Parts: sequence; structure tokens; C-alpha cells
Amino acid sequence: MSAFILEMNNITKTFPGVKALDNVNLKVKQGEIHALVGENGAGKSTLMKVLSGVYPAGSYEGTINFEGEACHFKDINQSEQLGIVIIHQELALSPYLSIAENIFLGNERQSRQIIDWQATYAESRELLERVGLHDSPETAVMDIGVGKQQLVEIAKALSKNVKLLILDEPTAALNETDSENLLQLLLELKQQGITSILISHKLNEVSFVSDSITVLRDGQTIETLDAHTEKIAEERIIKGMVGRELTSRFPDRHPDIQETIFEVRNWEVYHPQQSDRKMIDDVNFYLRKGEIVGIAGLMGAGRTELAMSIFGKSYGKRISGELYKNGARIEVNTVAQAIEHGIAYVSEDRKTYGLNLIEDIKRNITSANLKRISWASIVDENQEIVEAQALKMKLNIKTPTLEQLAGNLSGGNQQKVVLSKWMFTEPDILILDEPTRGVDVGAKFEIYTQINELAQQGMAVLVISSELPEVLGLSDRLYVMNEGRFTGELTKEEANQENVMRYMTGSEVEA
Ligand SMILES: Nc1ncnc2c1ncn2[C@@H]1O[C@H](COP(=O)(O)OP(=O)(O)OP(=O)(O)O)[C@@H](O)[C@H]1O
Ligand SMILES: [Mg+2]
Repeated sequence: MSAFILEMNNITKTFPGVKALDNVNLKVKQGEIHALVGENGAGKSTLMKVLSGVYPAGSYEGTINFEGEACHFKDINQSEQLGIVIIHQELALSPYLSIAENIFLGNERQSRQIIDWQATYAESRELLERVGLHDSPETAVMDIGVGKQQLVEIAKALSKNVKLLILDEPTAALNETDSENLLQLLLELKQQGITSILISHKLNEVSFVSDSITVLRDGQTIETLDAHTEKIAEERIIKGMVGRELTSRFPDRHPDIQETIFEVRNWEVYHPQQSDRKMIDDVNFYLRKGEIVGIAGLMGAGRTELAMSIFGKSYGKRISGELYKNGARIEVNTVAQAIEHGIAYVSEDRKTYGLNLIEDIKRNITSANLKRISWASIVDENQEIVEAQALKMKLNIKTPTLEQLAGNLSGGNQQKVVLSKWMFTEPDILILDEPTRGVDVGAKFEIYTQINELAQQGMAVLVISSELPEVLGLSDRLYVMNEGRFTGELTKEEANQENVMRYMTGSEVEA
């Protein structure tokens, strides 16, 4: 038998107006961790959907060989039967069901048509043990964080006797600890003989964990790097991805900071369900025109809760405190009022709060500010195209047409549409929550450049990011948050990885 468990040859896949894959070749060795990297829209997710039967045989050209056999999958069930399991970019668990129910959803443990709960829980416990998750299998999925949800997805894959595990950006939404755990788990599964394909934009992880790295660019295979013959540095991968060296990760910044435009005083927020649980505790801060301010903190520190509670009280109960704009007190009780006062919030969860997947790109961009392109309540559709086109160019959104549904865009390009949408509202105060999640290295630079430009135009920008290098690289000033409170405020000069970490973990509290 060949050393390759999987061989995909000359795969070509076309969507209306796009050749997503153009004669792609991918060879994966038995038992290895094979990374698949490339810019947003390069074709990574599409290739894996071809492999797993999401796109059935006949809808693409080329051949697939798995364990030496030619495959013509009609659907995802057929690939799963052979042990090919894909965990998609957007997690697909049912939030209201328990961990155990999710693991065996569609694959129920039953005897005589009745679900065998004893077997379900017993097997779940074993699987959870294998992935290192210590929660009860009866816990509802919505009560565990994204990191643990990834582990549940993997447990689910293991329940199907997986031989080839495909993970599409599993760590995009994870903090550092959860990411490390997940990578460790991949290495353990490798010991047990399971082959994995890992798609990731976090190139440090890729170079840490992979045996081989295949680079896609514009739907074509560029190269496969062997991590055993040479140590593959991030710079080397980037060169393959973008076709040139990337000299700097951050654009030059010459801030022009003016007067205070926005102030939050004595802000307190309680949990929406557990009414005595304080989520935000006496937070005070200010933003100045032209300034980029970062908020650093660990997952669960309360950054998103803070941002959403400010943005028209879209999170939390019993909210108290004051908001000031240009020195005058403002009332912001709804999202509409927030927008009215020039506040915009770009959500970290683009699927739920940012995008309408079944609407086209241009309307997604203009939807939060239709007024700007309407006369007498009628949308000027020509104007809409002009404005949307301008933002598409600015952020380099990869799509053949603005009429494309947002749901058909690649993950990173969806993120750019969400950003465009809020740029279109021309806010005075722009809050960005994980603005570069799932975005490739090159596109990050473009987004940073845009953020700089917005600040240059006088906007006050508040950036929340779990990537410490990103908050440090981007911000003129930085707040650190821990357990619902601000524990430190640092200027760009004062801020570095070490002291921010200390404030983040609460080992240092400001006097
Ligand atoms: N269902 C679809 N209809 C039309 N075009 C599509 C569809 N799915 C993907 N595409 C297009 O195919 C190309 C490849 O997309 P794909 O999702 O594979 O990229 P990706 O490499 O996974 O990117 P990312 O890193 O942003 O997730 C993109 O131009 C995308 O817009
Ligand atoms: Mg993708």
C-alpha cells in the first residue's frame, strides 16, 4: 500500500464566476498532521468539502483516493463511513442539547428504536476522557465555552471511528490555553494512528504541530513543505502564501490624538440570567478622537460583555453607569440609539450578530445605514452598488460580484464584509471585537491599515483582541481587563507582553 492515506489529484471546482480550485493536488501521509494554509479565499475549505462529500462526486473534476481506493462520495455520510470526518469552520453543535446528545446526534445509541441513555452516557464519558474534557456529558453545550465545544466536536468524530480528521480553523476562536490543549490532543491522536488535516491562519501553530504543510494560492497548489527535512519558519510559509516576503506585520502609525469624545463612568452590568452575578464591575474609561485604544484580557474577562452592554445594552441586566459623548450625558438603551449616537460595534460572532448569510454582500454592507443611500425611504440601488464597491476595493473582499450571498464567501472575507458594514455607518466611535479572527496574515495588515486610516479621519477606535501582539501593535493606549474590572491602563510606551500579562491574570492590581 502507498504511504499516502489520501491522494487528491487535479481537483477542479467551479462556482458561478469563481474557479475555487484549479487542478489542486494534495497528498497526505498515513499518520501525519498535514497543514493546509493559504490566504482567505484560496480554496482550503472548498477542497475539504470536496474531500468529505459536501460537494458530491460529479460536482468537481479530478480524483480522490483514500487508503488506495477511488472514492466517489455522494454525501458526507459516505465519507464518514470510511473514517473521514470534517469539523467545519463554523461549529455545528446544537446549543440546547447536552454534550452526550450532540456526540451521538444522527448516530444515536439505541436498542429497539429507543435511545439507550445508559450507553449514550457511558460511551460519552469514555470519549470525553480521550479528549480531556472533564465536564459531565449531561451539560448543555451552550453552557460550555468554544474551546470545550471544539473538544466535543472531536469526541463526536472519535465516536465515528475516525481515520482522517479534518479541522477547519479549530483554534480561530480559542484563547491560547485552549489552543495549546487542542494541539496537544492532535499530537496524542497522532500517536494513536489518526491522520489529521489542519487548516489554520495561526502560522506559529502550524509550524509547531505539522509534519507537512501544503500551501494553496488562488485555487492552486503552490508547494508542499516537509517539516522533517527542515525547520519551517513562519516567514517561509508566508512567502508561499502571498508569493512575496512580508516585511512588516503592522503599518506605520503617526497618531493625531485630539480631545476626548467618549466616556464611560461607573459602568456595572449583571448577568442576563443570574441576576446577582456582576459581570462588569465599576469600569471607567475614555476615548479620544483619532485614538486607537485596546482592551486586553483573557477569555472570560468580560470584554465582549462590556462592549455589548455599551452598544445599546445588547448584553446584560441591571446596567448602571453613565455614558458621555463630547462631554454631554447620552442615553443609549437600544442598538438604534447607539447607532444614532454614532457608536458602532463589530461583533466577534459574525454569524449571529454581524452578517445576514442569505442576503447579498452589498445589502449586508449597507443594511445598518440604509438612510445614507435612500431618498424618501427608497433605496437608491445604483448608489448602493457604488458605495459597496468602494468598500470592497478598500478591504480587498474577494468575490466575483457584490450580488453574491454573504454565506458563500470564505470565512475571512465574511469578516471583511462585517467590518465594511460598520465602516459604512461612519461612526464617531468604533468598537471592534476580534476584528481579524480567521483573517490571513496579509489581510490583517490591510485591516490594520484601514483602522489607522479611520483613526486618522478622527474616529475613536476601541479594539478588543485576544491576540496580544495585535493589541500591542495596534493601540496608542491600552486597558487591561480581568474578571469584569479594569486592572491597568498603559501607554504604548509602557505596554509590553510581560506587564500586560501580569495585569491580565490579576497578579498585579493598579494602586
Ligand atoms: N458556495 C459557494 N458559492 C460561490 N462561491 C463560493 C462558494 N464557496 C466558496 N466560494 C468561493 O470559492 C473561493 C474559495 O473559498 P474557500 O471558502 O474555500 O476559501 P478558504 O481558503 O477556506 O478561505 P478562508 O481562509 O477565508 O476561510 C472563494 O472565492 C469563495 O468566495
Ligand atoms: Mg475557509
